[in-house]
Amino acid sequence: MLTNSPLIHAYRRMWPFIKPYSFRALLGMLLTIPVGAFDAAIAAFLRPFMDVVMVEQQSDFTMQLPIIIICFTLMQGVLIYAASYFNSWVGAKITTDIRTQLFDKLLSMHTAHFDQQSSGAILRRYSQDAERASGSLINNLKLFLTKFFSSITLTGVLLYNSWQLAIIAVGTLALVLYPLKAVKQKLQKSMNADEGAGANVMTIYNEAFNGNKIIHSFTLEPQMRGKFDQRMEMMFDNRMRIINATSWLSSILHFISSLGVALVVGFGGYLITVSHSITPGAFVAFVAAMLMLYAPLKSIGGTYVDMQRSFMAIDRIFQIFQQDPAIKDGALVLDKVRDGIEFKNVSFAYIKKRKVLKNISFDVKLGQTIALVGNSGGGKSTISNLIPRLYDTTGGEILIDGVNIKDYTIKSLRSHIAVVFQDNFLFSGTIRENLALGAQNVSEEAMWQALRNANLDEFVDSLENKLDTEIGERGTMLSGGQKQRIAIARAFIKDAPIVILDEATSALDNKAERVVQQALDKLMENRTVIVIAHRLSTIQNANKILVINEGEIIEQGAHDELLKQQGAYYALYETQFKT
Ligand SMILES: Nc1ncnc2c1ncn2[C@@H]1O[C@H](COP(=O)(O)OP(=O)(O)O)[C@@H](O)[C@H]1O
Ligand SMILES: [Mg+2]
Repeated sequence: MLTNSPLIHAYRRMWPFIKPYSFRALLGMLLTIPVGAFDAAIAAFLRPFMDVVMVEQQSDFTMQLPIIIICFTLMQGVLIYAASYFNSWVGAKITTDIRTQLFDKLLSMHTAHFDQQSSGAILRRYSQDAERASGSLINNLKLFLTKFFSSITLTGVLLYNSWQLAIIAVGTLALVLYPLKAVKQKLQKSMNADEGAGANVMTIYNEAFNGNKIIHSFTLEPQMRGKFDQRMEMMFDNRMRIINATSWLSSILHFISSLGVALVVGFGGYLITVSHSITPGAFVAFVAAMLMLYAPLKSIGGTYVDMQRSFMAIDRIFQIFQQDPAIKDGALVLDKVRDGIEFKNVSFAYIKKRKVLKNISFDVKLGQTIALVGNSGGGKSTISNLIPRLYDTTGGEILIDGVNIKDYTIKSLRSHIAVVFQDNFLFSGTIRENLALGAQNVSEEAMWQALRNANLDEFVDSLENKLDTEIGERGTMLSGGQKQRIAIARAFIKDAPIVILDEATSALDNKAERVVQQALDKLMENRTVIVIAHRLSTIQNANKILVINEGEIIEQGAHDELLKQQGAYYALYETQFKT
């Protein structure tokens, strides 16, 4: 009754994940055969017990039957244990494999993918779905097979005791298919909504965690609570809808099974008393087997929801797997930058039809420094994000040594670029780990040199554990300026020929900035640099300054030239100079 096509479809899709463990999976499944079959044996023995012991009053069976029952259930117990061990083992393995593949996929996702998703949705789709997909699929398969084999043998017992009654009992069971079908659509809709609500709730937790300072300082607790309540209510409503859909199912199924019992009792009475075609023992054994056959109907509602949930999880997982890696890898290996970077009529939009960059063209020769200045929101960070291909251009092209950066392997391209952002992410772990960022064999001396360059050596030296100091998740133990200097130090350690500084000193005070600026000047020596500066005083020596406004280059030239023009740059300079 459960072999409708989505089930087969789900297993076919999951097969690559099941395959490596197919032997144990099969073993687990095979073990369910006797577990199911033994159910029927117990029912079958009721017939001689009734006819021989109760009706004919012979005592031969009085001792045998209890022993048989105990033996069978003991064996069943051992088999149930073994089967559930293998099935859980396989289920956990599959969950791990799916999670790992999903995580690889997550890591390969384009930055834009993360712009479009909430953190809650990521958690649910990449982590929880794996569990749901494989865990319940395996459990349900086990349940299904056990019930399937017990159904076969129980049906055998039914037929053996009375074929007429068996037709009635099994025929009534077929009625179950209709309500199952009816409930499915309703269920899917509510479950989709439930999924969305679940992701929303996760996002709130995440906001409560990451935004706790803002929440406290703006006393946003009531608002957060309000948001939370609203989402909980949505979740509650969805859950109730799911439960309503299925408890209705349970009632119908309950009715159908009672109908079957009623028909069998009615017709069975006739067969015993009028046509004398079956013995009372056969009848009792029949009813026992039939009750066993019908028993799973009681829990079918829950199982059905569980199965639908896992089908939907599988759907979502495969949607993720089928997603193109939005960023396509090139084939050329960039081994050395020889000439420089060129933007050729580059345009870009984060969201369709809303161009953030229009027709940007400029070049940076090897060893040159180019500065981007202009009002905030103009598109400076966007330009710098395009170079390591955090996003891909929507028009025009970016060339390094005359080759489109899309033609280089991402790995080689990015290995030539060091970026210091305005807001730098630090990983939980030690200062050492955050400086090396995965680079092997960075010497102790190189670490300290980088710290000296970033003017952070004294601070690190003052810490008890020095380089091995844990800095907490996101570097919570450090000040904004210290975090920024760690980011600068790691750019030194990366020692890449292209350096992108996106307001890299914005979190520093004037004094620290002056010192770090010297370090940055050192970092910029002999490298190709794109620097976005909030303080114009720091970029006066740049080879070229581009003034970016609303996605366009409105002025370009050296500091002195631009000042002479008395245009936008001059105006910016004037306002900063005055303050
Ligand atoms: N991830 C994003 N998704 C959609 N729009 C964005 C995103 N990041 C930036 N923008 C928009 O792009 C424009 C340029 O932003 P940005 O390059 O950060 O400017 P700047 O660095 O010059 O201050 C802004 O209008 C901003 O709202
Ligand atoms: Mg910016």
